[in-house]
Amino acid sequence: MSLHGLTQITIGVPNVADTAGYYAEFGLDPTAIVDDAHGFTTTDGGEQLKLVSTARRRLVEMRIGADDPDDIARIAAALARLEMPAQADTMTLRSYDPGTEVNVVVEVAPRLAQRDTPPPAYNAPGHISRPDTRAPGVLRDNRVQPRKLGHVVLGSTDQATSQRFFTEGLGFKISDTVPGLAAFMRCSTDHHNVLVQQAPLAFLHHTSWQVDDVDEVGRGATAMLEKDPARHVWGLGRHHVGSNFFWYLRDPAGNFSEYYSDLDCIVDDALWTPQTWEGLRGLYNWGSPPPPSFLAPEDLAGLMAGAHGSA
Ligand SMILES: [Fe+2]
Repeated sequence: MSLHGLTQITIGVPNVADTAGYYAEFGLDPTAIVDDAHGFTTTDGGEQLKLVSTARRRLVEMRIGADDPDDIARIAAALARLEMPAQADTMTLRSYDPGTEVNVVVEVAPRLAQRDTPPPAYNAPGHISRPDTRAPGVLRDNRVQPRKLGHVVLGSTDQATSQRFFTEGLGFKISDTVPGLAAFMRCSTDHHNVLVQQAPLAFLHHTSWQVDDVDEVGRGATAMLEKDPARHVWGLGRHHVGSNFFWYLRDPAGNFSEYYSDLDCIVDDALWTPQTWEGLRGLYNWGSPPPPSFLAPEDLAGLMAGAHGSA
């Protein structure tokens, strides 16, 4: 069988209480605090985020779901061939990617089953699918809640080795490539679950969370900005690679979090043709241009200064 998705991430931040408040407002449901780790659930994916205390912000751990013990054995053999470290038992494999400084756990876990969510009815020229009623997107007054964790984007000091770790080692597939920057890699039917880009230090660029549709992207971000306009990073827009609508916000530790909807899904690998994207197409199709702080987060210099010898 195969890998089937990201199950959980652990983010380390110096300011856990503030950051925990942010993710609760973002729409994740706080669960128990166990061993000083703050847990959060998505609507469909269970406990998909943990926040722990670290000296500088970083992704501490990424957990990936696999179908059965054969997957664990295959990955253990592949990592051994690559001379990359791993400890495995029947159900769980633990490894570490030095380029991104992330602990990676692959575990046998049930596949995420999401209830069928039909897209809302949209009127179009010559096609009235919503007669005599206002759009659902303007009638909603519930708070936006992410359905699941979608992807993470990481800076690596050795992008080529990190990419080999995820593809040749763990079995991720490449959906599209931006030469000299990164490859979009998937371990599920989502267009991408992990993207690793070359960077002067290992850092977490953003995490991305699925919501129902573009109205939820807009409503979620608007609610976050009503609380604090300084959270805005980039949006609303539509990515070209992956096609998703996006809006990026900044948490109190400096990590970006993205609401997304309508990401490309690759169900039959044989029917998808990976492409190479140059220039701005690699970043977006429409929307305002990305601010410089999206491409190079403003705290990178400080993170680099603090990276030496700290957790
Ligand atoms: Fe993203």
